[in-house]
Amino acid sequence: MSETFQFKLIATDGKARRGVITMPRGEVRTPAFMPVGTAGTVKAMYLDQVRELGSDIILGNVYHLMLRPGAERVARLGGLHDFALWPHPILTDSGGFQVMSLASLRELDETGVRFRSHIDGSKHELTPERSIEIQGLLDSDIQMQLDECIRLPAERAEIERAMEMSLRWAERSAKAFGNQPGKAMFGIVQGGDLIDLRVRSAERLAAMDLKGYAVGGLAVGEPQDVMLATLDETLPVMPVDKPRYLMGVGTPDDILQSVARGIDMFDCVMPTRAGRHGLAYTRFGKVNLKNARHADDPRPLDEASGCPASRDYSRAYLHHLVRSNEALASMLLTWNNLAYYQSLMSGMRAAIEAGGFDDFAAATKSGWARGDL
Ligand code: GUN
Repeated sequence: MSETFQFKLIATDGKARRGVITMPRGEVRTPAFMPVGTAGTVKAMYLDQVRELGSDIILGNVYHLMLRPGAERVARLGGLHDFALWPHPILTDSGGFQVMSLASLRELDETGVRFRSHIDGSKHELTPERSIEIQGLLDSDIQMQLDECIRLPAERAEIERAMEMSLRWAERSAKAFGNQPGKAMFGIVQGGDLIDLRVRSAERLAAMDLKGYAVGGLAVGEPQDVMLATLDETLPVMPVDKPRYLMGVGTPDDILQSVARGIDMFDCVMPTRAGRHGLAYTRFGKVNLKNARHADDPRPLDEASGCPASRDYSRAYLHHLVRSNEALASMLLTWNNLAYYQSLMSGMRAAIEAGGFDDFAAATKSGWARGDL
């Protein structure tokens, strides 16, 4: 395995890219979906299962882990990989985004962000330097700069202020990260739905010669066509020889459309969170297992799937588990959803290699349109 962090493109098909990231803890085949493991656990799943479904990398969160169990404690216990029994790559998000959605009494300025914990009200501070220090204590393989993400719609002046500050925070994060050959620190393009700001952000980050780049500040309240139009204009300004990560996205359709535009990495709570709310993602679209129409249905979610949760259990049983609020409902539906997401990713990777991405995308969409009944 590589001693250094490297990204290679294996094939392209139109704008879609098939690549591989190599780093000391393993390879990440791209396009990649990273299951969200907020608190060092992908909720309702054993990490062995997550791995078996084809996940090369999972995501962890600075915000949650700094509050509980604490970054210094995780470091004393050998780092997040040993703590959670996941020896493969981990990407950590820097914390700003979660502070804005979860913490109370937030106070943000050029220095960083001060806030109270959503768990016990205790006071904390995150600066670009402290976020990188925490990600180092966790021993994260891909670390993200601290940034400020603005919800849309928003005023131009506000979007521009946050984007410019995020650029200065990228410089401070890169300096704090220093030179770590086996790891990477990614910068985050901001700029809301304003193309000139997105282009400025992407160009200035590209000039910093970071090892990878994310697009942040999307899927934050804007319609899908605005997100895709923003990607259309932003991606051409981003370096072709570095991985490109679209943060917090998305539905299977968002992912398909973003891969078509040249995105390499994704993370989203959707498959895991939806699984805990009775919703299954399948080749035939979404299935809401709370719905009474499933109560007598002996068919599995997808008899052709390789995943036992999708193939072996009847919809009637899944419906019963969901209605009874059983833990097994969350476990089986999360398993099904991650299996579907990872099979979508591996299907896209194979299609790009074979030069058939457009056909694959069309066939996938017609499957969703068919519906399951
Ligand atoms: N997760 C989803 N969107 C964002 C973003 O804009 N920034 C960060 N740091 N994390 C995110």
